[in-house]
Amino acid sequence: MKKLFVKTYGCQMNAYDSARMADLLAPLGFVGTDTPESADMVILNTCHIREKAVEKVYSELGRLTQMKRAKPEMLVAVAGCVAQAEGEEMVRRAPVVDLLVGPQSYHRLPEMIARHARDHGHQLQSDFPALEKFDHLPEAVSDSGVSAFLTVQEGCDKFCTFCVVPYTRGPEHSRAPERIIAEAETLASRGAREIILLGQNVNAYRGSDAHGKDWNLERLIAGVAAIPEISRIRYTTSHPRDMDDDLIAAHGECEKLMPFLHLPVQSGSDTILAAMNRQHTAEDYLRLIERLRAARPDIGFSSDFIVGFPGESDADFEATLALVREVKFAQCFSFKYSPRPGTPAAAARKVISDAVKTTRLLTLQALLLGQQDEANLTAIGKTLAVLFEKLGREPGQLVGRTPYLQPVHVIGPKSLIGKIQNVKLEALTANSLHGAHTEGVLAESATA
Ligand code: 5AD
Ligand code: SF4
Repeated sequence: MKKLFVKTYGCQMNAYDSARMADLLAPLGFVGTDTPESADMVILNTCHIREKAVEKVYSELGRLTQMKRAKPEMLVAVAGCVAQAEGEEMVRRAPVVDLLVGPQSYHRLPEMIARHARDHGHQLQSDFPALEKFDHLPEAVSDSGVSAFLTVQEGCDKFCTFCVVPYTRGPEHSRAPERIIAEAETLASRGAREIILLGQNVNAYRGSDAHGKDWNLERLIAGVAAIPEISRIRYTTSHPRDMDDDLIAAHGECEKLMPFLHLPVQSGSDTILAAMNRQHTAEDYLRLIERLRAARPDIGFSSDFIVGFPGESDADFEATLALVREVKFAQCFSFKYSPRPGTPAAAARKVISDAVKTTRLLTLQALLLGQQDEANLTAIGKTLAVLFEKLGREPGQLVGRTPYLQPVHVIGPKSLIGKIQNVKLEALTANSLHGAHTEGVLAESATA
């Protein structure tokens, strides 16, 4: 038996891919291990979205170089978007790398490992072979838990000027709906109660079935909702331009679709949104939020923000703060703009100093954190349906989530894992709610 250590950086799609790679290598005799020291093969599944993410990979490769001196037979593979973007340059900078595999080529890993064993050369597989990936990857088999990721769409055609995704993940491609439903059924039979449909631009999902019928994301959600064991459905990440009427209506009609949506806006300034090629204005975004709230009044929102995009003036930044105040987000991610090689914005001249980026980030984060605390505090005293996912760190503690994705800790029996219970929320510490569950009362029906 050989030991495999997979380290995942970046997005949930990478987490899903890492699990599929482990599934793919299981027939070759690889079993998972928790440390690189004990591994025969190490895969770094990398993220290229911001410069910091890339630096982390190179410093991990530095540590692996040391480790490999004592263990020369250890195989080091770099997967994901850094492998895709850097290609052979990566092997030059970090000769410890034996295999490079881009996000569309994971299904070639067994073959690459065999070839490597034969000739010990470096293997590069990072072109986009017309998305045959999903046809060759095994369906989800590893124990993916109560809340399971399921990739339905990959790639992006939006070309936001700051973003590497259209270059590293390639053009939009949607998986066949039948395959997705079958995978959701498998996950359900293995204990999944929540399915999170994943895609770089998930609401642009357009699958066609064997009868040539087109499915949009709303139809796919309805298909997954028809699986009796699945009680909760979420999807991420969406682009405001692709929120169609069907999908908005689904938020009011599909009970299993959870009232929480990650809908990145990036900026509140129309000048910056145009420079980012977001293809919508701040007003468009606000109207969208309004329509979603009309469909589902209790819906919560999260977003991504970039501060210090080239040319961002004080007034542009103020417009972002104004948008945040108007929407009132439940939870958000915010980043300093980081120029990515090969993207149009990286060539822009009106760069913003790091000091200004830092000040703006701190200001924005203080505002967002205040809104997050407010969202959590209004939950105190309420009774919400919590899906229990796993054991907590304290003895007897269970961790679950509310419909709004807030983590909840309660003391309760292990048998509640995989079940939805009403929980009276009593306290807030850091970002977790604490409460007491109401034994025996199922809060959401587990059947359709
Ligand atoms: N610099 C900073 N943040 C970025 N993101 C994507 N590209 C960049 C970049 N070049 C952020 C966006 C996106 C999230 C996943 O990462 O906010 O929504
Ligand atoms: Fe990147 Fe998202 Fe824009 Fe696509 S829509 S280019 S993934 S930020």
